[in-house]
Amino acid sequence: MSVSPPDYLVLEHVRKEFGSFVALGDVSLSVRAGELLCFLGPSGCGKTTLLRIIAGLETQSAGRIIQGGRDISLLPPMKRDYGIVFQSYALFPNLTIAQNVAYGLVNRRVPRAERDRRVAELLTLVGLPDSGPKYPAQLSGGQQQRIAIARAIATSPGLMLLDEPLSALDARVRVRLRGEIRSLQQRLAVTTILVTHDQEEALTMADRIVVMNHGAIEQVGTPFEVYRNPATPFVADFVGKTNLLPAAGAGEGRVRIGDQRFACEFDGAFAKRTDLKVFFRPEDVQVRGVGGETPNSAAAVVQGLEFLGSYSRLTLRLNGIDQALIADLSVNDLAEFRVKPGDTLRVAVPVDRLRVFAAGPE
Ligand SMILES: Nc1ncnc2c1ncn2[C@@H]1O[C@H](COP(=O)(O)OP(=O)(O)OP(=O)(O)O)[C@@H](O)[C@H]1O
Ligand SMILES: [Mg+2]
Repeated sequence: MSVSPPDYLVLEHVRKEFGSFVALGDVSLSVRAGELLCFLGPSGCGKTTLLRIIAGLETQSAGRIIQGGRDISLLPPMKRDYGIVFQSYALFPNLTIAQNVAYGLVNRRVPRAERDRRVAELLTLVGLPDSGPKYPAQLSGGQQQRIAIARAIATSPGLMLLDEPLSALDARVRVRLRGEIRSLQQRLAVTTILVTHDQEEALTMADRIVVMNHGAIEQVGTPFEVYRNPATPFVADFVGKTNLLPAAGAGEGRVRIGDQRFACEFDGAFAKRTDLKVFFRPEDVQVRGVGGETPNSAAAVVQGLEFLGSYSRLTLRLNGIDQALIADLSVNDLAEFRVKPGDTLRVAVPVDRLRVFAAGPE
């Protein structure tokens, strides 16, 4: 028996065309009750289009959307059960904060006293209990987004949809609000879809990430899965810093990178292919304590050293290959192990940290 929560929202074969342009190919996806799911992908990959289809603000060309067991594919937005927050604050500038938050409640004819109580509760929930009489222009960008969230959840919708809610904010506010939105979402246990092109935002906030590219899903997984075991070269490259080096099969369980051979666990079908890509993270490259006998080791020349605070990033060149590789060293490692550009080192990558893809068309 599965321990996962049940699926709250199910997308079946959703397709969207704008004229002859296919914005979404054939998207199927399940969102579990109470989870925070991120749509992550580069600009133009179809994140907003998919979110708008879920909201009924855009009509799919084909496919079905099931929310809470009900087919909502053809329902207008007003008949659907969600709250939405966009990138730009989109608060009504001529209404007070309290009136903004109460907007959905007024539409639903919630009695005045109950409405006032709910607005006070929501303003406290988002940490702005005294802002009710103010107008949006009197609040900072981060405060306005908190109010937009309060407005979105005022009617306790089953689904919260957030389209790049933090991207217009400055870096510090953005980081703080990430944590606030996440803890609010968990306290309310509201099923949430967050659209972002910021991988750090997705990795820090999501229960699961849907990585999208060119109107298709590349991978669905937890932040750890997507980072650690990317399903495709695109995911490997888009999420986190990556070494993605051209390679060729060199017999069973071996690849050649430049002039060097490395052992790896891979599909036997790759053994003779010459169009492979090898993936490993900069933190998986061993730089200290590597000798000639260390498995999967090779000589490399240090080309650059970039100090980044808690760690430093080495740029290295293996023999016989133009593309450099990067390796991260903690600041403590670096204090004991001094390297400088021009040095030749031996580096190694553990067998289980190398992953091989067929390069294919990108
Ligand atoms: N109404 C429309 N008419 C024609 N093309 C559209 C329309 N809306 C979106 N598109 C196209 O569909 C593709 C996906 O757009 P979408 O807004 O979903 O991307 P996105 O992933 O949200 O990107 P971003 O990160 O830039 O917001 C883009 O190529 C866009 O130009
Ligand atoms: Mg968008």
